[in-house]
Amino acid sequence: MVAGRYRVTLLIGGPGAGKGTQAKYLSETLRIPHIASGDLLRDHRRRGTPLGRAAQTYMDRGDLVPDGLVVDLMMNRLAAPDATRGALLDGFPRTVAQAEALDTALARHDGGVHAALYLDVPAEVLVERLCGRWFCGGCQQTYNERIEPLPSDMRCSACGTRLGQRPDDRCDVIEHRVEVYFHETAPVLSHYSGRRLLHRLNGNRTPDDVRDALLDALRALAAPRELAPALPSMSHRDVALSPSRGGLG
Ligand code: AP5
Ligand code: MG
Repeated sequence: MVAGRYRVTLLIGGPGAGKGTQAKYLSETLRIPHIASGDLLRDHRRRGTPLGRAAQTYMDRGDLVPDGLVVDLMMNRLAAPDATRGALLDGFPRTVAQAEALDTALARHDGGVHAALYLDVPAEVLVERLCGRWFCGGCQQTYNERIEPLPSDMRCSACGTRLGQRPDDRCDVIEHRVEVYFHETAPVLSHYSGRRLLHRLNGNRTPDDVRDALLDALRALAAPRELAPALPSMSHRDVALSPSRGGLG
C-alpha cells in the first residue's frame, strides 16, 4: 500500500460502467476529490479553450483524446492543493501510456496508485445504459429513460432546465466508444493486475449493490480512520443511490 502523499485511487470501467454514479459516494467516503478526465475536457469545451477545441472532434466521434493532451490536463489538476492528500480518478488512465505517465509523476512525489477499482459490465449493458442517458445542463443531474420515465415536459425535475444528451451519447458513437474501450483501455487492467492493485467488481447489478461492493473493497484496503465517519459500516441501504443522481459525466 502506498503511504505517502499523492496516493490516488482509480475507478476504471467502460463507458456507462457507472464510474460517475459511484464516484460521488466514494470521494465522500475517502474524503478526497473526484477528478474525472471527461468532466475536465467538457469544461474546456464549454469555455472554448484551445484544449477544448482540440478535444472536441475526438470526443464527438467517440475516440480518445491524444495522450499528451490528457496527461498534461490531469497532471495540472493533480497539482492543485486539494489533491495532495490523494484523489479519486475517474476515466484516467485510459491507455497504458497514460498509466505509465501517472506512475512516473506520482513516484516523483513519493506517491502512487493505492487501488484500481474496476467496474466490470458487459458491452451490451454499457450500450443499453448510455443510449438511455439524458442530463440537465443546469444542475448536471442525469436521467436514464431505460430505468425510469423521463419527466413528461423533458425538463429537469430539480431545476427546470430542458434536458439534453451528451453529443457522444448517440447510439452509433456509443458503440464505437465501447469498442475503443476494449481495444485501448482493457490493457490498462493488466498494468494494474501485474502490480496486484486491481480489484475487479461486478458492475452489472443495482447501483446500491455496486456501491456496497466498492466500499467493501476500500474497507479491506483502508485503515479504519481513513473512512469517513458518515459511513461507519456497510449497512447503508437506507441511503438510496438512485441511478438518476449521478453527475453529468
Ligand atoms: P468520459 O466522460 O470519461 O465518459 P466514459 O468513460 O465514456 O463514460 P461515461 O461518463 O459515459 O460513463 P460512466 O462510467 O461515468 O457511467 P455513469 O455513472 O454516467 O469520457 C468522454 C470522452 O472524453 C471519451 O470518449 C474521450 O473522448 C474523452 N476522454 C476522457 N478521458 C480520457 C482519457 N483519459 N484519455 C483520452 N480521452 C479521454 O452511468 C451511465 C448511465 O448508466 C447513467 O444513466 C446512470 O444512471 C446509469 N447507471 C449507472 N450505474 C448503473 C447501474 N449499476 N445499473 C443501471 N444503470 C446504471
Ligand atoms: Mg462518467
